[in-house]
Order: sequence, then structure tokens, then C-alpha cells
Amino acid sequence: MSADLHPVPDEWARTAKIDNDKYQEMYRASIEDPETFWGEQGRRITWFRDYTKIRDVSYDADDLHIRWYEDGTLNAAYNCLDRHLADKGDQPAIIWEGDEPDTDETVTYRDLHARVGRLANGLKALGVSKGDRVTIYMPMIIEAAVAMLACARIGAIHSVVFGGFSPDSLAGRIQDCESNCVITADEGVRGGRRIPLKANTDAALAECPGVEHVVVVRHTGGDVAWKDGRDVWYHELVEGQSDDCPAEEMNAEDPLFILYTSGSTGKPKGVMHTTGGYMVYTSMTHEYVFDYRPGDIYWCTADVGWVTGHSYILYGPLANGATTLMFEGVPNYPDVSRFWQVCDKHNVQIFYTAPTAIRALMGAGPDPVKKTSRKSLRLLGTVGEPINPEAWNWYYDVVGEGRCPIVDTWWQTETGGILISPLPGATDLKPGSATRPFFGIRPILVDEFGKELEGAVSGNLCITESWPGQMRTVYGDHERFVQTYFSTYPGRYFTGDGARRDEDGYFWITGRVDDVINVSGHRMGTAEVESALVAHDKVSEAAVVGYPHDLKGQGIYAYVTLMAGESPNDDLRKELVQWVRKEIGPIASPDLIQWAPGLPKTRSGKIMRRILRKIAEDDYGSLGDTSTLADPAVVDDLIENRQNRR
Ligand code: WT7
Repeated sequence: MSADLHPVPDEWARTAKIDNDKYQEMYRASIEDPETFWGEQGRRITWFRDYTKIRDVSYDADDLHIRWYEDGTLNAAYNCLDRHLADKGDQPAIIWEGDEPDTDETVTYRDLHARVGRLANGLKALGVSKGDRVTIYMPMIIEAAVAMLACARIGAIHSVVFGGFSPDSLAGRIQDCESNCVITADEGVRGGRRIPLKANTDAALAECPGVEHVVVVRHTGGDVAWKDGRDVWYHELVEGQSDDCPAEEMNAEDPLFILYTSGSTGKPKGVMHTTGGYMVYTSMTHEYVFDYRPGDIYWCTADVGWVTGHSYILYGPLANGATTLMFEGVPNYPDVSRFWQVCDKHNVQIFYTAPTAIRALMGAGPDPVKKTSRKSLRLLGTVGEPINPEAWNWYYDVVGEGRCPIVDTWWQTETGGILISPLPGATDLKPGSATRPFFGIRPILVDEFGKELEGAVSGNLCITESWPGQMRTVYGDHERFVQTYFSTYPGRYFTGDGARRDEDGYFWITGRVDDVINVSGHRMGTAEVESALVAHDKVSEAAVVGYPHDLKGQGIYAYVTLMAGESPNDDLRKELVQWVRKEIGPIASPDLIQWAPGLPKTRSGKIMRRILRKIAEDDYGSLGDTSTLADPAVVDDLIENRQNRR
């Protein structure tokens, strides 16, 4: 047995819902007869009107459509709340832990149901109705969850925008889906620092005349500007509203939410998820991947502004009647023990975070971990980027003390839920591998021509069959959906990732093969950063690539050509970093800027990113053929001047 194989512990094989035999049996059934398999799994959700059709899918570009349970009707909020009231009304649904260690709040299913009902009625009173798009720009507070569920309850489509995005980014997302209502807070607070959410919203709305209502949660009590007639305090809106708001009967294929994500070209895409299949898939994956057992306290550290927050803080866990912990703060405030202190304080069994957080905490050494107990922990998870074996081992040995399996879950905003991951009672673990496909998922590796590769091999990762949690379209741009995911390899969903399959059939995700970079588990399109840079009046051209970064996984490396007459200097460098932060948000800040008198281009004017990536990675030996460049000398200059990057 290889030293880096961690077999399933006996106790897990005995007690988990799925052991290896069961995995094999269910996986085979899910692939051989998906209709029967998904027909049965659909029963985990409460339907108002039962479905008779299970799936209707075509990956053919001319007739691309994905429909699951299409004649069933349901409501996502009803599934997350009402159906648990009879037996779990007094059980905590959400445990909220604030930024400051002495702030927390527990909300039972009954409380949460009432709070969602009041806001849902409040939104209705403002005129929000089924099919309307509501933008949610919130800190990690209970009202964020209430807002999402209130939208779901009345059939409004939520679009959550991460609170770290700039006013411009917020405005672009509001305009794209034509929201007429925004829900926000006065301010957010993370690591003791305040984030002016209402002020950002005001700035964004200068460009969004279609927004009629802004609902504002008073959270920090900070000063805010007010626009009478448009702005309304959350607490005033819900005051006097009934707890009772009938759950709108939605079709399985009615949209539940839109979530914007970066692609390799153009503006962020509005990934659209629908109701029935998404609820079935998130509920099922949450139960099996985390082996959720009644009474467990489950904590996913993501922000609700990302898909992980949607699927695995909110919809999956609540559909399962779980207790989900929501954390407002950051891993290193007040100090680097915080995560583990929160685990002890709330008795957390299942803990799910990002490799970037683990790497950052690993840098502080084992003592801050060891001074906490963590005896409640049973299972650990990661998501968002490949986890390097060193970080995996530290997570396993130091945090989990060798007791807790780690589920390395691979998925995407587009997939709605986890597609490749170990199941803790079934899968022997290999540090750094997301291991095997979930039920119903058929991952394949293809070469650049789309030929399927067999055996132990590396290639581009595609999925051949549909699954219920899959995105249905790009909001307002179905053609872009077809082009982005189904045109590179016709008849298959192309993930944009590269992967290796080993001799045991385990998958090792190697990272994006397109012009998307993964910074601390957050996706950033290089094109977006480039267009922010060239919007600065001293910049003539910019090319952005990713490079290996110890903490972030990938860092943002920008080659910048200045306008004639401008000269490079450190003040301008700082100004450009600030500029990108302001244009997009702090997550898009370039880590390194290299002044580039010229960029390597083909004679037809196309920037050769391959070469820029190699220089950024300090890998000059294999630049490949540069003879087709319009001006090969540019490359020598970039290599020579790379010391200038900062
Ligand atoms: C991209 C999707 C899915 C929620 C968070 C990110 C990368 C995600 C893993 C993993 C290796 C991973 C992929 C993917 N990724 N999880 N376990 N191992 N890479 O969602 O922003 O849509 O990003 O994140 O490159 O394509 P996202």
C-alpha cells in the first residue's frame, strides 16, 4: 500500500450511510438506469404536485436544453422550512457567529420560518412578485439567509452579489438581470473592519435607474445616506407583517437564482439555476458527501456571495433539516485560533473550508490549533481549488488529529453541487485528489481534439451526462451558454478544468485550462482585470495571467504597457493596484505588475499568453516557438526586466 493512501477507517465503513459496496452499487445503478435512480432520489424533496417526467436533456448545440422533473411543482423555502416544523421546529436551523467572539445568535426552524414569512410579506408589499429579480448585497448575517429564502418563498429570483465587490461590479450585475429591488445592510464588518455596503449600493444605483426599492438592514448602526421613497429599513418593512406567507407553487424548472461568475471572456455570466433539480441535488450531495446525521452541527466557512454559500450553507443543509453555522468573520480575527475556537464553542462536527485558508493558518504553525480541543470534529472538507498534499496533511494531522476523513470536493458555480469527491465511509483518500465521481456523474478526459482518453492519463475534463443540479442557461444569453460549455467538445459539458486520472481511477484536478484564474478559491477572469487596467488613462495595454502563489494558489500577474510619454514608477504601480480594487473589488488586486514596453503578439495581433504565463512562472527554458511573433525581441526584454515586477 502506498504511504499516502488513507484507507477508510473501519468505524466509518461501519457507521456511514454509504460504504464502498453501497457506493459501487449505487453508482452503477445511477449510470445504467439514470431515470430510475433520479426518479427515486427526487422523492427526498417535498413536491406540491408530483413529477411524472424525470429528465429531458439534449447537449446538442442546435437544441440545447436541460430539464429535470419538469412537470413537478414545489417551493424551495417550503422544503427548507415548513416541512421541518412538525418534528424540528425547536431545533436550531442557523447558528450565527458574529465577527466579534462574544456575538452569536441561534435561530430555530420555527423562528426562521417566521422571519422568512415576514420578509416575504414585506417584499410583496413593495410589489415584488414571482419572476422578479432581487439583488442581495449583504454581509454574513442571518438576514442574508432570510432574504434568499424570502425570495424563494414568493418565487422571486435572487442574485446574490458578494459584499467584497465594488459599486461598479454591483451595478453591472443589477443591470444585467434588471433587478428592481436590492436588499443590503448599512455596513458589513469583517476582522473588525467595516465595509460600507449601503454607500456602495448608493454609488452603484447612480447607474441603475430601474431600481425602485432598497431594503436596508441596520447591522452596525453606522451612518448612511437615505433616499426617501426608494430606501426602506428592513425592520420597518417587516414590522406588523404576518409570519405566515403562503409558499408560491413553482414549477421544477422555474428559476431559483442567478449567480454571476467570471469566465474567460467578457463580463461575468449570470449562471442560472432552477428549483427542482437543484434542491434534489444539493440535498443529496450534502447528506452523502458530509455524511450528515441528525443533530450534527455543520459549518461551511464560505460566504453566501459564492455558490458554496448557496448550496452548502443554505439550500442543501436546510433541505435536510440540518443545523448550519454561518460565520461573519475571518479566520485570523481576533487571532489565528478563531476557526477552532468556533468549532469548540458551537460543538461543530463537520467543517468545510477552502485550501487557501488552510495554507494561511498553516503558516502560523500548530500551536494556535493545538490550544483548542476540536474533539467534536468528525469530518473535514475542502473546496474551491486544488489542495496541495502539504496542506492536506497538515489539515488531516494537526486539525483533525488523524481522526477525521477529508472530503476534497470538486465542483463549480455551474454544476450547482459537488460532482467529484470522496464519500467518507466509502473512499480511501489520497492527499490532493478529489477522488471519484458522485452518483450519476460521468467525468471523462479528452484531448484537444475532443477524443476521449482511456486509462491513467491527463486531459481536459468533460462531463457526458446531465445531473439535476446543473445550470440551465446564462441568464439572458442562452447562446453564450451553448458557446461556453458545449461548443469546444460537442455533445459534452466542458468544465474548463484540466485533470489527471490515476491507475485507481481517481481524479486529480490540475486547474483551469482557460483564461480564468483561481485566486484564493475565487474565480477571476483575466479579461476582466485587463479591461479594468486599460480603463485607466495612463495604461495603453495590459495582459493578465496567473502564477503560482504560496497562499492564494494563484496570484494575479499583470503586464502593463503605458501610454506614450508616461514613465513607470512605484507610485503609479500602487495607483493601478488601487484602481483595480476600486473597479472590481479587492479580490482582483494584481499581486505583481511588470512594466512591459511591448507584449508578445502574433503577426495578426493576438497576445501570446502562453509565453506570458511561462515568464510569470519563471520558466524560460520552454517558451516554445517564438518565431511566429511579430517582434521576437519583446520576449527577451520581458525576461530581462522581470526583476522589475513587484
Ligand atoms: C473552479 C470553480 C465550487 C465552489 C467554489 C468554486 C476549481 C473547485 C476544486 C477542488 C480543484 C477545484 C476548479 C473549478 N475548484 N473545487 N476541490 N479541487 N479545483 O466555484 O468559483 O465556480 O470555481 O474552482 O478550477 O473549475 P467556482
